[in-house]
Amino acid sequence: MQYKVVIPAAGSGKRMGAGMNKLFLKIGCQTIIEMTLTVFGRDKRCNEIILPINLEERELFESLPYIKEFKEKLTFVQGGAERQESVFNGIKAIDDKKSIVLVHDGARPFVSEKIISTLLESCCSSDGVICAVPVKDTIKKVEQEVVAKTIDRSTLWAVQTPQAFTYEVLEEAHTLAEEKGFFGTDDASLLEWNGKKVKVVTGDYFNIKVTTKEDLIFAEAILQGRHE
Ligand code: CTP
Ligand code: MG
Repeated sequence: MQYKVVIPAAGSGKRMGAGMNKLFLKIGCQTIIEMTLTVFGRDKRCNEIILPINLEERELFESLPYIKEFKEKLTFVQGGAERQESVFNGIKAIDDKKSIVLVHDGARPFVSEKIISTLLESCCSSDGVICAVPVKDTIKKVEQEVVAKTIDRSTLWAVQTPQAFTYEVLEEAHTLAEEKGFFGTDDASLLEWNGKKVKVVTGDYFNIKVTTKEDLIFAEAILQGRHE
């Protein structure tokens, strides 16, 4: 099954605190964004990668050595002020309205072909498919430093990307969300808000999002583990 992927990469990496877009930080010898792009670049089922970026960084992106081999699959578009806006700009650049569209954070470099396969296998049975892993910690709702509630962990899943959709359903949810001013932290939440069915498949605990400084240490360890 062929698909296209939108990889939002226009963030500023505030929580990382590196004073630059964290996607240009290296894990081992590759930048985070090169690791992410390489997985989709080498996947034969992926026929287009749409990369919403801050266009001021375009030369930096284009000069990355590891993306040369699949440059012809890559389309750069202007990112937006929020992740959701960046993704929407990416969706608007897709010509083939019958496509399966994956959305994947540039900051998740440990995505695998196996996760992508699992998503694609389930893609036809619902409006959207997401990967997630059961939460390991006890999660409490806290208000003004006091516990308001302990939430039943058996129902909680930590959601990751990639997330897979048909173009029509994803485009419709983004269009409506923009019109009504609804913001979600992932794309599936826009479908949920729009009354669509989102299926969950098991992701991978290694598929972390590199968000804060600690995650760089975890990421180095994951990479090391892969080479052992
Ligand atoms: N992203 C984007 N456009 C934005 C904000 C985020 O394309 N306006 C992208 C990031 O580049 C990243 C992904 O969305 O690949 C997930 O976002 P996040 O991990 O929050 O990255 P940043 O927004 O860069 O980090 P922070 O929130 O700490 O500033
Ligand atoms: Mg962010």
